[in-house]
Amino acid sequence: MCGIVGYTGYRQAQPILVGALKRLEYRGYDSAGIALGGEKISVYKDKGEVAHIEAGAPRFTGVWGIAHTRWATHGKPTKNNAHPFMDCNGKVALAHNGIIENYGRLKDDLMRRGHVFTSETDTETVVHLIEENYKGNLEEAARTVVKMLEGSYALVMMHVSEPGKVVAVRKESPLILGIGDGENFVASDVPALLDHTDRVISMQDGEVAVITQDGVTLTDVEGKPVDRGFQRITFTLDDAERGGYEHFMLKEIFEQPRALHDTLVGKLGEDAPYGIPIDGVRLIACGTSYHASLVGKYVIESIAKLPAQVEVASEYRYGAVSREHPFTVLISQSGETADTLAAAKEATRRGCYTVGITNILGSSITREVDETIYTRAGIEIGVAATKTYLTQLAALYLLAMRLGTGRTLRPDTARQMREGLRSLPQHVQRVLNNSEEIEKVAKETSKARDMFFIGRNLNYPVALEGALKMKEISYIHAEGYPAGELKHGPLALLSPEAPVIAIAVKDHTYEKMLSNIGEVSARGSPVVGICSEGDRETPKYVDYVLRVPDVPTIFSPVPVSVVLQLLAYYAARERGCPIDKPRNLAKSVTVE
Ligand code: M6R
Repeated sequence: MCGIVGYTGYRQAQPILVGALKRLEYRGYDSAGIALGGEKISVYKDKGEVAHIEAGAPRFTGVWGIAHTRWATHGKPTKNNAHPFMDCNGKVALAHNGIIENYGRLKDDLMRRGHVFTSETDTETVVHLIEENYKGNLEEAARTVVKMLEGSYALVMMHVSEPGKVVAVRKESPLILGIGDGENFVASDVPALLDHTDRVISMQDGEVAVITQDGVTLTDVEGKPVDRGFQRITFTLDDAERGGYEHFMLKEIFEQPRALHDTLVGKLGEDAPYGIPIDGVRLIACGTSYHASLVGKYVIESIAKLPAQVEVASEYRYGAVSREHPFTVLISQSGETADTLAAAKEATRRGCYTVGITNILGSSITREVDETIYTRAGIEIGVAATKTYLTQLAALYLLAMRLGTGRTLRPDTARQMREGLRSLPQHVQRVLNNSEEIEKVAKETSKARDMFFIGRNLNYPVALEGALKMKEISYIHAEGYPAGELKHGPLALLSPEAPVIAIAVKDHTYEKMLSNIGEVSARGSPVVGICSEGDRETPKYVDYVLRVPDVPTIFSPVPVSVVLQLLAYYAARERGCPIDKPRNLAKSVTVE
C-alpha cells in the first residue's frame, strides 16, 4: 500500500522526509509528494518514483512536514491524485493510506457546501472535512472528522497555524511513532525510521497522536490519554537494506536458513495439548500465505489427523458457511492484509477460536485473534514473499504437531518431526549452495512466454507458489496445476515455448508424476525436473535436473520452494525486471 512519513524537530525536514520515503517505496511507488511547514505550507508532488520527486522538488525550508509515496487505489497515478492534499485555503496538508469507503457521499456534501476538489481520490474529502471542522486545534478537528469516516485509514496532517505539530490517526492501517532526541517521527513502517531512531510506539486503532519536537502524546478518539511506552527495534538498518545482494529478494532468499532457525528455536520441546475440543481446522489467508495454508492443510491432516479446509480470505468473508470449524488459523506475514483481518473479525463473530500466524510483532491481526504464533523471518522488503513464506511453513509444522499432541501424534513421530525440523536450515543451505545450477536453468528457460508448474499432494500448493513467484517478478505467464489435471485441458497449451517445471520428489505419487512428465514432454515442452538427490529415474525423462536434499516427504515443500524462488529470481533478473518492486504490486495490501 502507500507509505507515509511525518517529521518535526530541529533539522531541515525535506531531506529527512525524502530519505524516509525511499525506505518506504516498497509500499507503493506510482507517485509521491512532500509538504513542508513554514509561514505557508509548501507542497511538491508528482507522478513517478521518489527519486523523481527528489530531483524535481524546489529546496523548501522548514523543520516539520509530511510526505507520501502512493500505490493507487482511487484515482489514477497522476500528479493531481498524488498526496499530500491541501484544503481550499492552503492551510491544511494531509496524507492518507487506506480507503475511505463513504467518500462519495461526503464529497457530494462538501461540494454542495462550496469545496473545490482537485483530484479523483477518496483522501481529498478528509482534508476538506478537517478544514470545515478546524477550530484552532488540529487533533480536535481530527477526532471530529474520523467519526464521519467509514473505511480504513492512516492519516497524517499538519496545519499552518500550529507550527511544528503533526497529527496522526489510525484505523486498520499501520502507523508507527518514532521517538528521537529533540525530534520525533511518524511513519507507516519501521524502515522509514531506522536512520534516525530505534525507539518506536505502534499506534493502535482509534488512537490520535500529536507529534511535536518535544514529544509524542497519544489519546483515544475521545481525547482520553493513552499511556504506552516505546519498544526498541532489535533489527538494524542494515537488516532493512540489501546487505551486498543485488536485490532484497535474493538477500531474503539467502537469509532463509537463519529465518527458519529463528522461527523454530525454543519451540522444539514437548508441546502442551490444546485444552479445547477440536474436530477440524480452517485456514484462511491471501496470496503466498494462502499457498502456505494449502501446504498446512496436508501437514495438519497427516500429522494431527484432523480434517482441514483452506479458504482465500476475501472469499471466506462473504461465504455462506455450511459447517463452521471453530478452530481457525489466519495467516498473514504483514498482519495487515485487509481481507485477512476482516476474515479474522468474521471468524471471531462466528464464535471460532482464532490463531494468527504473522511475522510482524504487534501487527493488527494480533489484536484480532485469540492466540498468535510469530514467525521470526525478520523484515522482508522484497514484494515477493520468500523467507516469510518458508517460516510460515515452519510455523504450520509446529502447529500441526501441537494439534496432534495428546491425540494422534505418537511420541516417536513427534521426535522424528522435531529432528526433521531441526535439520531444515541446513537442507535449505544446501539448496542455496547449488544456486549457480539453478541460475543456469533459469537462463535457459527465461525466454518463455508461458510456464506450467506441476506437483502432486503437498507439492501441488508448492507448484502454485512457484508459479506465483515466477509471474509476479518475471512477468512470464505461469500457472500451477496438480500434475494429474493437465490432461483435462492445459495440455492444449503446451509447446516448445512453454516449459514445464515438474516437482518429482520421492513420495507415494512419484510413479504417477513420472507418467505426467512423459505426457508433457510428448507435447514438446521442455521439462525441468526437481527431484531428490539420489533419484536416477527422473533425469531420464526431463531436459533439466535440479536436485533437492532427500528429506522426509512431509518437509519436501521447504527445499523445493527454495529452488522455485531462485528459479523465478534468476529468470526475472535475466529479463531485466524490477524484482523488488514488481509493477502494479505492493508489499502489503491493506485495502479490500
Ligand atoms: O502479508 P500477507 O501475508 O497477508 O500478504 C498476503 C499476500 O498479499 C502476499 O502473500 C503476496 O501474495 C506475496 N507478497 C506475493 O509474493
